[in-house]
Amino acid sequence: MVKTMKWQSSALILLDQTKLPINVEFIECKDYKRVIDAIKRLEVRGAPAIGAAAGFAMVLALKEIISEENLLASYAVRRDEIIAARPTAVNLEWAANLLYTSVEEMLEAKLDSVLILANIEKLALKIYDTDIEKNKTMGTFGAEIMPEKAIVLTHCNAGALATCGYGTALGVIRAAYEVGKLKMVYSDETRPLLQGSRLTAWELLEDGIPVTTITDNMAAWTILKKGINAIVVGADRIASNGDTANKIGTYGLAVLAKEHNIPFYIAAPASTFDFDIATGDEIKIEERSGDEVRMFQGIPSAPPNVAVFNPGFDVTPGDLITGIITEYGVLEKPYISAIAKLKENVSKENLFTWKA
Ligand code: MRU
Repeated sequence: MVKTMKWQSSALILLDQTKLPINVEFIECKDYKRVIDAIKRLEVRGAPAIGAAAGFAMVLALKEIISEENLLASYAVRRDEIIAARPTAVNLEWAANLLYTSVEEMLEAKLDSVLILANIEKLALKIYDTDIEKNKTMGTFGAEIMPEKAIVLTHCNAGALATCGYGTALGVIRAAYEVGKLKMVYSDETRPLLQGSRLTAWELLEDGIPVTTITDNMAAWTILKKGINAIVVGADRIASNGDTANKIGTYGLAVLAKEHNIPFYIAAPASTFDFDIATGDEIKIEERSGDEVRMFQGIPSAPPNVAVFNPGFDVTPGDLITGIITEYGVLEKPYISAIAKLKENVSKENLFTWKA
């Protein structure tokens, strides 16, 4: 299975996802600013992957300023720059805040700078390592609820490429394949940047999992004609009531699932939940450059001066979601209580502490 990133202590090596599936190339990020650029350009993308990359960016940032007198103030500036790289996926904000708060606590506890740096690096690696484990657990829960002979539609790329390995939605699909339940995956092309046809199709083919790619406007017809019996997608931010932000086009699929009476699942780790917001109305939706729609890889496909609306994500109301597959089990409606319980479990477990 592909590896999206590799930590080398003085640098973060990223698989350049903008070059796939034509070329497999890597980028060496020796400072946090290069990681920010990689996140902005979608060289690394997908909510859990940008969360892990943000963690390593925080390590690189800390190394630069560890001897400064006003360490915390400088670190806060860098943390905010990292968070601003992409606003919708909460994993990025979660990882950056976690490492910042940990440094704050360690300074209060009077730890020396060598130990602070070592503990922060350990925490960033823990974010990376636990993501793979969580995806596998999520996959097991998800495979149990997949129909026999599953014909699954997925959108964008919520696979090994969007995470630290295995994947969320594609983790469920992988696990269903491993237990012999999967017949076919339909992968939406996912305009405008084609994460579905460039990345999901490539990733599944690499692993020998049966996949058929369709363009986004073929989804309704494919559901009718090809017997799709489940839709599984990832998430970028989930509010306390289950409203879920994911790649633009997800909401339309949830509406289609309701109309055709097929289950619509979200697969996401606890780090994708934003327990601080009540509903999806509070989620900031990233708007990207109009040129992503006016052209593809530099080739114009629309008048250069046409106005474009290019939201990167949409929000699917919790009501339209059949279940949310997490590493703690499958959450069911009513989501307000299920997500409150999830929050309790996460804080009881307290996985991410520098004291560990
Ligand atoms: O803009 P992207 O490619 O970062 O968007 C990614 C998605 O929307 C994924 O489907 C989502 O992050 C889930 S990732 C496991």
